[in-house]
Amino acid sequence: MIRARITGTGSYLPEKVLTNFDIEKFLDTSDEWIRTRTGISERRIAADDENTSDLATKASERALEMAGVRPEELDLIVMGTITGDYPWPATACVVQVNLGAVNSGAYDVSAACSGFIYALSAAADRIQAGNAKKILVIGAEILTRICDWKDRNTCILFGDGAGAVVLEAVEGENGVLSTHLHADGSQLELLYQPGFSTKIVLSVEAIERKEQYLKMEGNEVFKVAVRSMTEAGKEALAANNMTSADVSLFVPHQANLRILEAVAKRLKLMDERTYINVDRFGNTSGATIPIALDEANRAGRIKEGDILLFDAFGGGFTWASALVRW
Ligand code: ACO
Repeated sequence: MIRARITGTGSYLPEKVLTNFDIEKFLDTSDEWIRTRTGISERRIAADDENTSDLATKASERALEMAGVRPEELDLIVMGTITGDYPWPATACVVQVNLGAVNSGAYDVSAACSGFIYALSAAADRIQAGNAKKILVIGAEILTRICDWKDRNTCILFGDGAGAVVLEAVEGENGVLSTHLHADGSQLELLYQPGFSTKIVLSVEAIERKEQYLKMEGNEVFKVAVRSMTEAGKEALAANNMTSADVSLFVPHQANLRILEAVAKRLKLMDERTYINVDRFGNTSGATIPIALDEANRAGRIKEGDILLFDAFGGGFTWASALVRW
């Protein structure tokens, strides 16, 4: 059987660190409040001359190098992002030219914090169907540019970064075992960016209403996120006749520590198998899972045959999970 195996991981975090203490200086908040409510101590901020495609390109170069795959060997680039360089075309096209992936197709997936798993799912299915041999899957965001830095309810949560994996067609049992995608658009206004596109077009009035910024009802999002990620995690295990005892590494979307811990507890993964880096990078939306995966991989925490569970929830609402045999 042909499977899509992860043969390389890479990540890139911008250099600039913004700590909670830095935020205290311009916003009515405190390090103590942010840490106890979210588990976040600091996050990275892209430089003024860095675009989402730049972050994605650097993460991708590292993943390709680890896999030993040349850019021109890629059949496809799929990128999860909600903060691309342009409304269109896809930022994956910018990455494609940056890398010199001259034989590759390229498109973006808009599924917010679930974007990486959605992208992974599309790529793995294409490989398993025999339509591609090597695919680059990316999650990359510059969320700090769509945050209102005067809104303490939202801006403290988010950060910038990128992660990437190389998927290759292999014979055997190692690779993506299953992916599970869900959505419920009925509550999209609990977490979204209203402008600017065709519904709320760019105008002085719309800017004055701050329609360009991410909006979120934190309490509601919290509850639905915990419930949905728990269900998606269980679904991936059940689909493969496994239990949490089979999982070597749980890589959840790093939304905030309280969500992660609530989900890990419900999945019986509340121990060293749950990977956490939200304290250092905040919520980088579609980039959190591939960044965490790359850190764990480079730290030697993953060995051949390990079962990895990915699990995410985000705007849309969307939620998704994936089970991988390394
Ligand atoms: N600093 C100080 N006080 C604050 C801050 C802040 N940064 N933000 C809000 N407060 C205040 C509020 O104004 C409120 O004050 P009030 O009682 O005088 O009105 C008080 O703190 C409590 O506010 P709540 O919103 O009830 O605080 P809560 O404990 O729910 O924490 C939070 C808010 C952290 C946003 C929480 O709801 C949460 O984690 N939600 C999940 C949202 C999330 O993770 N979104 C990420 C995107 S979706 C995803 O990735 C899954």
